[in-house]
Amino acid sequence: MPQFQTPLCQRLGIAHPIFGFSHEPDVVVAIAQAGGFPVLGLARDAPQDIPAIVRDVEQRLAGLPYGIDLMLPAHVPSQADPQSLQAALPPAHVAFVAGLRKRFAIQPPSQPSFFTAHARSEALFQAQIDAVLNSNACAVATAIGLRAELIAEAKRRGKLTFSLIGSVRHARKALDMGVDVLVAQGYDAGGHTGNVGTMSLLPQIVEVAQNTPVLAAGGIATGAQVLGSICSGAQGAWLGTLWMAAQENHTPPALLDRLIASSSEDTVISRAHSGKPCRVVRSAWIDAWDEADAPAPLGMPQQQALTGDVFASIHEHDNAQLIYEAAGQSVFGIKARTTVAAQMEMLVAEMNQAWGRVSGFVQ
Ligand SMILES: Cc1cc2nc3c(=O)[nH]c(=O)nc-3n(C[C@H](O)[C@H](O)[C@H](O)COP(=O)(O)O)c2cc1C
Repeated sequence: MPQFQTPLCQRLGIAHPIFGFSHEPDVVVAIAQAGGFPVLGLARDAPQDIPAIVRDVEQRLAGLPYGIDLMLPAHVPSQADPQSLQAALPPAHVAFVAGLRKRFAIQPPSQPSFFTAHARSEALFQAQIDAVLNSNACAVATAIGLRAELIAEAKRRGKLTFSLIGSVRHARKALDMGVDVLVAQGYDAGGHTGNVGTMSLLPQIVEVAQNTPVLAAGGIATGAQVLGSICSGAQGAWLGTLWMAAQENHTPPALLDRLIASSSEDTVISRAHSGKPCRVVRSAWIDAWDEADAPAPLGMPQQQALTGDVFASIHEHDNAQLIYEAAGQSVFGIKARTTVAAQMEMLVAEMNQAWGRVSGFVQ
């Protein structure tokens, strides 16, 4: 079987041009062991927890390369905590969510989580950045915002810098800041997205990137799509949603059932999760924010201060009616509970099948 080795694969020392984003350390370890490049999302972790998480992952990776991702939007308060944000929430929003808590009989979460104990602020971001820079990760990825100082400092420490971008304008900004790898993340993607679909975004980013490597992200769930991305000029594909089907993700059973039952059309862009447009798989909670009497969601970080306990609760209690998560149109690729190793094997086999199919057309 041919092996698809792009220059970026060679630079990183990975077997396959498959980059996997996950918040779950077990997924990260399994992706690395299967020959992909894992990127550990730490945007949902308290800065003080990051050193122990990273130590554990690095020990289990035993030298295999990996990256860390942070979400760093601009325009958040310099300092914030949930209590003071909650004290200043608009009464109409508080009343609306109180009504939903009653209507859906939502139990409070039994323990604190990132979503109840923290609020996104510059102070939080800086503490997360410091913890990430001190890790041995060979790459640092950032999303939603671009931070020139972080990019410069990560590069100074010998780390490769990745930036998730959803438009040509942001790609140009990232290139000006010296980012090493652009991740062209289309509208199809799970999580916070822009307005352009991956298929249209990728060639435009490849064109402006010139010699800077580009990865394709958003809506990708098959090896044929990975190969197609490479044909469009990418050096690999960056997947997020698919790994939620893997047992290593410890996905709550009701959420996995929902993902298996969902088609691409069951994912929607909503501001109800974080305050910023975010593609999620629909549930009664997400739908409630689209009802006629619903107020427009608040911004970031106020929306999390308003609803963070609900997100924590519906995950803790595996609430089949309300549970949701960020998920891309790639959800079509989630058909059953599986493992990361099986997913990687399938993606690689599909790349080879697609290669065989295309080769058969050559006269
Ligand atoms: C559950 C989930 C959480 C995500 N959280 C983040 C995040 O914290 N930071 C980030 O850069 N991207 C995040 N993303 C987006 C991924 O990095 C990736 O771009 C996206 O999943 C690719 O599209 P796909 O979901 O169709 O595979 C998240 C995606 C999912 C599914």
